[in-house]
Amino acid sequence: MSCARAEVIILVDDYAGYNIRGLLGQHGLAVLIKVLEKSGRTYKVLFDVGQDGSVLVHNSKLLGIDLHDVDVIALSHRHYDHTGGIVDMLKNIGRRVPVVAHPDVLKPGIVITESRVDFSAGIPCSEGELRGLSNLVLARTPIQLAPSVWWLGEVPRKTSYEREPDWSYTVSEGKLVRDPLKDDTGVVISIEGYGAAVVVGCSHSGIVNIVEHASEVIGEVPKAVIGGLHLISASEDVIKKTISDLRRLGVEEVHVGHCTGLKAEAMMASEFGDGFAKIYSGYKVVIGTE
Ligand SMILES: [Fe+2]
Ligand SMILES: [Fe+2]
Repeated sequence: MSCARAEVIILVDDYAGYNIRGLLGQHGLAVLIKVLEKSGRTYKVLFDVGQDGSVLVHNSKLLGIDLHDVDVIALSHRHYDHTGGIVDMLKNIGRRVPVVAHPDVLKPGIVITESRVDFSAGIPCSEGELRGLSNLVLARTPIQLAPSVWWLGEVPRKTSYEREPDWSYTVSEGKLVRDPLKDDTGVVISIEGYGAAVVVGCSHSGIVNIVEHASEVIGEVPKAVIGGLHLISASEDVIKKTISDLRRLGVEEVHVGHCTGLKAEAMMASEFGDGFAKIYSGYKVVIGTE
């Protein structure tokens, strides 16, 4: 059954916005995807849970959104700012909902740069804890989450300029090793007659790679990109190549924030014009009939 309409609602973003008084910003991302079938049935997909369940619950209440009837939770990748609220959220829901993620989401997440060492950048709970509270589904290939909504699984990395993160490490067989964050992925929503949108967490796999992969999964190019692009430390040259390839593929709208970075946002605002928007807690994109 195809869906008539989808709403993508940013529940938590770094920026609190200005439309609704009292909404909180927090470094991280949580997105509710609501799809409405032509029969009238609604499905709720929660994509990422922010770094703290209390902000997610607070913002959802202010927005009048009930998360108790969420059908499925999908995770973009292991980082704490996307997974930190998972235990609080599952306890709050009080049911064993499916949690869909890549197996590497459970690997330790370690960030090492010249100025920072963080051993707690990954998901802040154990596999046992997750399995105790949810129906954990670990997969590398795409999974349909609801009518018109697919989680994309492992993203093939093809572009030359979207380089694997050189600051990401994990521990494997007792050794500290570089980790390319193969768990990083997105969700695609396709509404017949209106087109598709891809929703991303941090885009560590590269947003162009993710859009290309989403196009292969659903057989059409997403017109819109929504979420974080992790271009915060990218060079102007990489940002230019990213914009040009998104355009070449057919992306018309970018609704971005979180780790996208001010320089990339400014360059995208200039290139995409009315097709650019900065997301914030409470921001909403509608695909389909209003
Ligand atoms: Fe992030
Ligand atoms: Fe991340």
